[in-house]
Amino acid sequence: MRCSVVFWIISIFLLHTTNPALAAVLGIDYGQQFLKAMVVSPQAPMELILTPESKRKDVSGLAIRKLGSNPDDIERLFGSSVGSLSTRFPKDTLLHLKPLLGKPGSDMNDMTLYLREHPGVEIVDTKRNSLAFKVRGTEYSVEELVAMNIQEIINRANSLLKEKDPSGFDFVDRLSLTVPEFFTQHQRKALLDVGTITTDNLQTCLVNDGLSVLINFAFKHRDFTPGEKLYYIVYDMGSGSTKASLFSIMQPINDTEPLTLEIGGYGFNDRLGGSKFTLDIASLIQNRFLEQHKAVRTFSLNASPKSLAKIVQAAEKAKLVLSANSEAHVSIESLIDEIDFKTTISRSEFEEFIQEGVRDIAGPIEGALSTQFWDDPIDLDDLSGIILTGGSSRVPVVQEQLSKFVPEEKILRSVNADESAVNGATVRGVKIFDAFKTKPLNIIERSVFNYGIKVQQEESEEIIFHRGTEYPSQKTITIDPLEKANDKFTIDLYENDRIFKTVAVSTKDVERSFTSESCPLGVSYNITFTLSHNRIFDVDKAEAICQKNSSVGDSGVDSEKDVTDVNSDTSKNSKGKPSRKLKLLLTKDDTPIKHMSSDEKYQCRKHISFLVKTDKERYELEAAKNSLEALLYETRIYLENTDIIETGPKIHLERLAELIPDYLEWLEDGADDFKKGDIEEKISQIQKLRNKIETYLKYLSEPLDGKQFKDMLEKSNNLSQKLADSKQQVNDTIELIEDKVAEFDLDVHEEYSKISLPSYIARLLAGWDETLSSLREKTTSIETMIESGALEQTDRDDLLEMKLSFDEVSIEFEKKINAFNMGKDYRFRELLSLTQKLEKVRKRKEERLRKSMAEMNNSTSGLFSEATDTLEPSSLSSSTSTETLTAIFHDEL
Ligand SMILES: *[C@@H]1O[C@H](CO)[C@@H](O)[C@H](O)[C@H]1NC(C)=O
Ligand SMILES: *[C@@H]1O[C@H](CO)[C@@H](O)[C@H](O)[C@H]1NC(C)=O
Ligand SMILES: *[C@@H]1O[C@H](CO)[C@@H](O)[C@H](O)[C@H]1NC(C)=O
Ligand SMILES: *[C@@H]1O[C@H](CO)[C@@H](O)[C@H](O)[C@H]1NC(C)=O
Ligand SMILES: *[C@@H]1O[C@H](CO)[C@@H](O)[C@H](O)[C@H]1NC(C)=O
Ligand SMILES: *[C@@H]1O[C@H](CO)[C@@H](O)[C@H](O)[C@H]1NC(C)=O
Ligand SMILES: *[C@@H]1O[C@H](CO)[C@@H](O)[C@H](O)[C@H]1NC(C)=O
Repeated sequence: MRCSVVFWIISIFLLHTTNPALAAVLGIDYGQQFLKAMVVSPQAPMELILTPESKRKDVSGLAIRKLGSNPDDIERLFGSSVGSLSTRFPKDTLLHLKPLLGKPGSDMNDMTLYLREHPGVEIVDTKRNSLAFKVRGTEYSVEELVAMNIQEIINRANSLLKEKDPSGFDFVDRLSLTVPEFFTQHQRKALLDVGTITTDNLQTCLVNDGLSVLINFAFKHRDFTPGEKLYYIVYDMGSGSTKASLFSIMQPINDTEPLTLEIGGYGFNDRLGGSKFTLDIASLIQNRFLEQHKAVRTFSLNASPKSLAKIVQAAEKAKLVLSANSEAHVSIESLIDEIDFKTTISRSEFEEFIQEGVRDIAGPIEGALSTQFWDDPIDLDDLSGIILTGGSSRVPVVQEQLSKFVPEEKILRSVNADESAVNGATVRGVKIFDAFKTKPLNIIERSVFNYGIKVQQEESEEIIFHRGTEYPSQKTITIDPLEKANDKFTIDLYENDRIFKTVAVSTKDVERSFTSESCPLGVSYNITFTLSHNRIFDVDKAEAICQKNSSVGDSGVDSEKDVTDVNSDTSKNSKGKPSRKLKLLLTKDDTPIKHMSSDEKYQCRKHISFLVKTDKERYELEAAKNSLEALLYETRIYLENTDIIETGPKIHLERLAELIPDYLEWLEDGADDFKKGDIEEKISQIQKLRNKIETYLKYLSEPLDGKQFKDMLEKSNNLSQKLADSKQQVNDTIELIEDKVAEFDLDVHEEYSKISLPSYIARLLAGWDETLSSLREKTTSIETMIESGALEQTDRDDLLEMKLSFDEVSIEFEKKINAFNMGKDYRFRELLSLTQKLEKVRKRKEERLRKSMAEMNNSTSGLFSEATDTLEPSSLSSSTSTETLTAIFHDEL
């Protein structure tokens, strides 16, 4: 089924012809416990980013290991290696970061649940009143940590793109992240900041996770009956929260119109999810342990992060086992004080324990149905199905509860729960960024929250975008003349009655520009608000409007020309034409959490790239060390081979035998002072010696005697002769042509050399001089050696090298001669067609002359003798110098 989505996206690229954007969209289903990523580029249509272990999903989070005293002397670990560290180094393992994004530090009570699941970590409040982790004294904001996580995936996606297209133009420059519909302004803003931190000029968009799943579902399903509206609920139980989104899907009767998806209701519980079940089982285990080991005090167990982490890890395992089995065996080694603990937990025990939570399972569905945005709400009976997604929706008790609520046949489990969200979010990202041409899809999103304002902290809140408002959206409201307010007034922005931002509107310039004479009816303010496609509520602009008594009509401004920007020059005013609309400066202030400033984000990005660089260097150094070590051990075994000892070149063998123990010792002693270059030099030294030995052994059967070297000289002579022959052939042929085209007075030698060779021949001829002189040099040294009788005294090793290098250059030179001959043939073919063209031109001219002569003969008989003169071929060719040849061709052809 997955292939239908891939098919759809492939068709994107067939449609996509205009702008061959060298860019890629990365979609990430960013979950609390796991994340999945997928990249789309012209080279890689919908390619899942696999983990280094080739898994389809990745652990969300990372571990930071301190290596030295310098705060930046750290190693960051990602992916599956993080999981195993959580019990050994619970303080350094930073998982489940998603719910901490955009949460205020002042609300640390919220952290109890988190800290139960992640014992030992130190969470602190930042200067911005957001959350940060302190790892061995260094503070990392949650945004920075999540950015490290995402950045690592971007790097992996970029290497995948490079693999697909080694010329390497495609890279990730757009990021589409899933977001729970219930995420607040602060949480959304924090996610967008994360995108900015990862990469320069990266654009980020947020896609509601329920919608992502539905998009994927709609593409898989495909055949919807035109005109029939179907209703679905996407029920998503992840590890941190449970959500239900009600949607309608309709294929319009006119089937050229796009499929329409519309959200109609939403319910959620941001406490219920897999994490809660894990903690419930952890409590069961912990209670049982304390019961059986009365000597262990609750207090000391709670003070031991490693013990708590072991219990949580065992609980997580047991939870997975209980999904498929009626009981799970728990075994924890050295839980505390060297006590090993074993117990068995049955599914019924677990279900009894979580009794209270069970009642909440269907809650989000009820929520989605009871608070619909549609004028004509639907009933449970109208639903075509409930699409289950999210890892925890597989827990048996969850499915049991849901089937009590809706008929079993309406529960759709067939969706590929693990990847549907990442598929849909990627498709949606491609659409939002308009990155590639796509099949149209009509998506109607509606706000699940209310967005309102209070001006000058007045009592009542005015709702700008009601719950159910379609977005993206923009709205302008007019605020009536205000009480005088210190050169400014404030607008507080509210989300579901909770303030999150204050915007100050500067009125400093208003009085100066709008006097009571020029604006007798006073000044009013038009404020424009936006609800963006990321569902960010903000003030877009504020304008002061002069209320004038005008006969033309007093409804404000009549033409664009009257607009005056505060920052632009006010020349229009000086012309006596009063401005009637004044754009006002806005100052924005987030509350209670401040978001990262551009500079903070820039510093953060710089810091991460620095860490990426040092991680890479450390990795490469480690790899170099490992390969040197492996090479040394392998060579040591190689040198023990008796054949090699007996027949190999003594000098090289001895040198190697000396180097190996030396270098092994160097590796052991050097500790951490290694330079990558030093290691690589040693590797190359060993390898060169090995190559020499191997070559020596390979050519053991070569005689390398006087006869063989004399043959080499003969070979060299033969090559010289072959070249001379070819050159002679050139001259001979040229002479022949010269005879034939004597009438044209053509410098055939020059024409010959002027013809430029096609690149495939020119490439073969490149390096002619170097090859020739190298052949001469090698030939001379062989001659000298033979003449001086030094052959017998020369090492076999050196003789072999002489022979091999002579062979190499003579083969190379022979190839060059062949290329010379190819060039020769090519040029003569060209010359031939040149002379044929000349011949044709001449004939045509003669013909024309003859004709005109005949005419002249008829009319004026006296011009005869003169005319015959010009018919001489020589007089024609004299005007046909080589310079004008080309010109003639142009005229004639
Ligand atoms: C169907 O929709 C397309 C695009 O909106 C429109 O151009 C066309 O006229 C419609 N056809 C009918 C029969 O309504
Ligand atoms: C001010 O806003 C109102 C709507 O509240 C709108 O009708 C009017 O055109 C706006 N005036 C200007 C000058 O933009
Ligand atoms: C505005 O103009 C009307 C007539 O055009 C006049 O009756 C009224 O008094 C004027 N108001 C002011 C404030 O000038
Ligand atoms: C050199 O050329 C001669 C004659 O063409 C040939 O007999 C001889 O084998 C060639 N020698 C070598 C070493 O190629
Ligand atoms: C070929 O002709 C050129 C130019 O006339 C001359 O320099 C060269 O020595 C000749 N080569 C041979 C092999 O006769
Ligand atoms: C022109 O006329 C003379 C005599 O009449 C004749 O001999 C000659 O061939 C003619 N030339 C041409 C080009 O027809
Ligand atoms: C020249 O004149 C003769 C007869 O007067 C005619 O047959 C012939 O076609 C003419 N030639 C040309 C080239 O005009």
